[in-house]
Amino acid sequence: MSAPKKLFIKTYGCQMNVYDSERMAEQLGGEGYVRTETAEDADMILLNTCHIREKAAEKVYSELGRFRPLKEAKPDLKIGVAGCVAQAEGAEIMARQPMVDLVVGPQSYHRLPELERKARSGEKALDTDFPEEDKFDHLASRPKAARGPTAFLTVQEGCDKFCAFCVVPYTRGAEVSRPAERVMSEARDLVERGVREITLLGQNVNAYHGHEGGLAGLIRDLAEIDGLERIRFTTSHPNDMDDALIAAHGEVGKLMPYLHLPVQSGSDRILKAMNRKHTAEQYVRLIERIRAARPDILLSGDFIVGFPGETDADFADTMSLIETIGYGQAYSFKYSARPGTPAAEREEVAEDVKDARLQELQALLTRQQREVQDAMLGREVRVLFEKPGRLPGQMVGKSEYLHAVHVHTDGVSAGDILPVRIVASNSNSLAGEI
Ligand code: 5AD
Ligand code: SF4
Repeated sequence: MSAPKKLFIKTYGCQMNVYDSERMAEQLGGEGYVRTETAEDADMILLNTCHIREKAAEKVYSELGRFRPLKEAKPDLKIGVAGCVAQAEGAEIMARQPMVDLVVGPQSYHRLPELERKARSGEKALDTDFPEEDKFDHLASRPKAARGPTAFLTVQEGCDKFCAFCVVPYTRGAEVSRPAERVMSEARDLVERGVREITLLGQNVNAYHGHEGGLAGLIRDLAEIDGLERIRFTTSHPNDMDDALIAAHGEVGKLMPYLHLPVQSGSDRILKAMNRKHTAEQYVRLIERIRAARPDILLSGDFIVGFPGETDADFADTMSLIETIGYGQAYSFKYSARPGTPAAEREEVAEDVKDARLQELQALLTRQQREVQDAMLGREVRVLFEKPGRLPGQMVGKSEYLHAVHVHTDGVSAGDILPVRIVASNSNSLAGEI
């Protein structure tokens, strides 16, 4: 038998790409590849790319440029581009970087073995279709290797919302949900292999319709799996937070009290221009209902500053919405025009204005994060331990609220869920004692 070929995958962007990279590695496992952590040993390099924000394609081209010496030293090395930049740029990638052998869009990963063989034979391999068949039905089932205590599981892909700034509906296509039975069997398989927490992924995961009871129905079924202790999901649109899902937050003990619910802006004028289809007031009412169901829930969000047309008054509305809600943590971005999206046609806010707003907004979010963390001091949380920390004798895990918690202890193993008293709050984590 020949020695296994080595596969190096570099993953950018969202958790969905992390999941996809795992599945691509499994696909190519069937072609005799094992994963390596160093590009220098690889027989194949795959960049799993993200297109959500600025200069994504340029970064991919410059990263590719860095692989040129490797390709020159080892002409058999195959270089591929996957993910959303592959979808958006297609054949243009090979035109600009002729050393690229393979380009594959996110909906065609089940065709990777074929594409790899084509690339090996010296041809250029390109597939950026939106095929009829579901890629997950055709992806090889995961090999039965043991796993760490947490896993991602993609249940939904694509988005029909068409927010005016966002490329996702173009790169990932229309909303598609995987049937609940498939998700359930993959979840059972993960649990058999040691997983205790599953995060359900989708670009608009709360629009999931692969179960007659929607995402809430799927979560209730998952909660019946013995050995699965924690369920999370990300990322969601406010308009798809239905009554059943809100109720599940109060009723399903395994559903963790953490919710990422992006609002993007607190100004009704901007929300309308963004095509978000709800007002700031509706978002605030929605959060009230979620908090009524699960009072201790920790909220997270996404914000964009400097969307075309955003005035100082609009920005002040965003700041005051953040004050009203109180986030445990959040992500914030300067608006960047994405080619092909409606907002890209509009006049941009000046860069220095965007910078100043971003700073101000991040200072507020950091303060809120700090307050929420400090409020944990002295409290007992339950930590799912994941791995050793950087210091000897230290273990790191996550609380119900997704806070990273460090504990100095012997005798705790990855996968244990134990009560921990919080004794210190650091900039991005907590420290505790068993
Ligand atoms: N500019 C800035 N931020 C963006 N996001 C999506 N598209 C853009 C864009 N063009 C942000 C949104 C989204 C998150 C994943 O990325 O806040 O919720
Ligand atoms: Fe993009 Fe999310 Fe809006 Fe869909 S809901 S278009 S993924 S920002």
